[in-house]
Amino acid sequence: MKGTFPIDKFAKMQTPFYYYDTDLLRETLRTINAEAGKHPNFVVHYAIKANANPKVLNVICQAGLGADCVSGGEIQRCVETGFPASKIVYAGVGKSDWEINLGLDRDIFCFNVESIPELEVINELAGKKDKVARVCFRINPDVGAHTHANITTGLAENKFGIAMRDMESVISEAEQMAHVKFIGLHFHIGSQILDMGDFEALCNRINQLQDQLEQHHIKVENINVGGGLGIDYNHPNRVPIPDFKSYFDTFAHHLKLREGQKLHFELGRSVVGQMGSLITRCLYVKQGTAKQFAIVDAGMTDLIRPALYQAYHKIENLTSDEPVETYDVVGPICESSDVFAKAIDLNKTHRGDLIALRSAGAYGEIMASQYNCRPLPKGFITEEL
Ligand code: LLP
Repeated sequence: MKGTFPIDKFAKMQTPFYYYDTDLLRETLRTINAEAGKHPNFVVHYAIKANANPKVLNVICQAGLGADCVSGGEIQRCVETGFPASKIVYAGVGKSDWEINLGLDRDIFCFNVESIPELEVINELAGKKDKVARVCFRINPDVGAHTHANITTGLAENKFGIAMRDMESVISEAEQMAHVKFIGLHFHIGSQILDMGDFEALCNRINQLQDQLEQHHIKVENINVGGGLGIDYNHPNRVPIPDFKSYFDTFAHHLKLREGQKLHFELGRSVVGQMGSLITRCLYVKQGTAKQFAIVDAGMTDLIRPALYQAYHKIENLTSDEPVETYDVVGPICESSDVFAKAIDLNKTHRGDLIALRSAGAYGEIMASQYNCRPLPKGFITEEL
């Protein structure tokens, strides 16, 4: 089964480009709001890093989600889009002074702090402005996730967060500081997680830490469990919307929230992954000695995930219905890793055929580069075509 696309409109367009199906995006957002909405203390933020295309952000902002930023540039983009500062959280191990100052000037909801030196700088910069910065501590929960090694973040060996054993001392240090206010704990164990057991393990760890803090009479107003819910890269047509019900229910059942506590989520891939496809044209079909190559006009500069993480993206020939043949689908970049897929079945492919790389709405356009002096790919939403 192939996806449905406005192929007649694509036919006139310059490739490669990203196509964002806003009907699917809106449906996904409705599902998120309906499932999270069953729990009045759940707050959902969108992780801007997954896709910061202004037209996509606009749709997400209108659905009422908050924003999770990891840089000053992302904060700026959110503010321009219209996300209220009171719904912006800001994480990252290396926040520069200008970025912290921007967050302070905008009065964002909170800084997710990843180290004591960072806490000290935030306190100092907030002091200069005579402000008090709300801070959450990102705790490294040492919970593994069953996903690609490059995208696990919650293990003790990762650079992210503050070690669990330092949690209480960091909180008491913050309490001594005049220009920061401790308001919660932040966690994130990794990305593209499909096993709800991983999130359950996170809940159990948070329960443990909360018990520990309670013994020291430390009150935590907010718990932020990060993002990480995966999408079905194999079946973008059959499973266009991730199982948000199981995801939110896992937290509702396993996390023991305290009275009045808010639970925050930072979802990226699961919001935008399936609504995006990279649309490219076949330039040449080349017969190798033992295989045939479909050489397309998109490359790793447009979608780096296959080259960087050996990620799988389903590939469909949108213009051919001829019997399938086996192809390596490769881009034009001067790198042997510029390969989208090896030995896959595609309907017999010819020069000029339109090819879709599916499930590319997250970490696609935003990770594009200009290597080889290539222009950045553009992104179009349904309404623009
Ligand atoms: N919160 C924090 C603190 C994060 O580090 C991330 C992602 C998210 C939320 C959003 O996670 P999501 O819901 O999208 O899984 N470029 C990689 C993914 C890197 C994810 C980095 N952190 C990829 O293409 O697979």
